[in-house]
Amino acid sequence: DTTEHLKPRPPVVTIMGHVDHGKTSLLDAIRNSKVVTGEAGGITQHIGAYQIEQDGQKITFIDTPGHAAFSQMRARGAKSTDIVILVVAADDGVMPQTKEAIAHAKAADVPIIIAINKIDKEGSDPNRVRTELLSEELVTESMGGDVIDVEVSAKSGQNLDKLLEMIILQSEVLELQANPDRTAEGIVIEAQLDRGRGPVATVLVQKGTLKPGDILVAGAEWGRVRAMLDEDGKQVKEAPPSKPVEVLGFQGTPEAGDMVAVVENEARAREIVEYRQRQIREKASVVASG
Ligand code: GTP
Ligand code: NA
Ligand code: MG
Repeated sequence: DTTEHLKPRPPVVTIMGHVDHGKTSLLDAIRNSKVVTGEAGGITQHIGAYQIEQDGQKITFIDTPGHAAFSQMRARGAKSTDIVILVVAADDGVMPQTKEAIAHAKAADVPIIIAINKIDKEGSDPNRVRTELLSEELVTESMGGDVIDVEVSAKSGQNLDKLLEMIILQSEVLELQANPDRTAEGIVIEAQLDRGRGPVATVLVQKGTLKPGDILVAGAEWGRVRAMLDEDGKQVKEAPPSKPVEVLGFQGTPEAGDMVAVVENEARAREIVEYRQRQIREKASVVASG
């Protein structure tokens, strides 16, 4: 049976933009506005990927760093996403990593929503941002084009609901679907070696449903899913398409951008990983011998 049983899935939204334009602040502000807490300004730990629910509609968010060294990650981010939120600080305007993010989003043919951030700041000039975006061939609605822009402040929380509304509208147009009933595939969003827990990888599931006990390969590493945790550190029993989860159980630490696939057994996982690690060693020795 080769027919795919597609079902609707939530949008994956990646936040991109120049260094310090407020990508992480914006994500934290959206998440904090959704966290039910008795304390005003309750602190949530920052994480690079999470899912929220707005009016019964799930949205997955992914953060990217603006630093010049992370170009590769932005390229991968643009490919693994449905919508790019381009954050431009209203007091700074279009900068080198803004332009690079636009190039990645366009190359990946992903729709862009502009978030003009820091409008609470003195000296902020949203119209200057819109004018500068014209040079990047992004014509916003007020300039007579069809690119959606929302003026926001991650600091005051202004217009965050409007931004979410625009994301939902855009995602409805895209009619996003995936088959949850197949072996899981996805991508590593971030990974690190944790002292207590061993390798921890945030995996965005793109197809199928990831479950504890699954054996997976990510780049040149493999593991058996020991546990999956959501953004609140709660155990997750199933991760369907568009769900980001922290995966515990890798033997080594994979890299951000590595493709993830569930395989049938440990022997197959070891075989794939040995082959890939050999390739990496051979490449390194070719480079070393000039
Ligand atoms: P990188 O990940 O390093 O590229 O930065 P970023 O884009 O994630 O920016 P970040 O969220 O780290 O914010 C950078 C600085 O801008 C911090 O000092 C924030 O407090 C500040 N900032 C972010 N958003 C706003 C805003 O809406 N208003 C004001 N006034 N400051 C903001
Ligand atoms: Na920053
Ligand atoms: Mg950041």
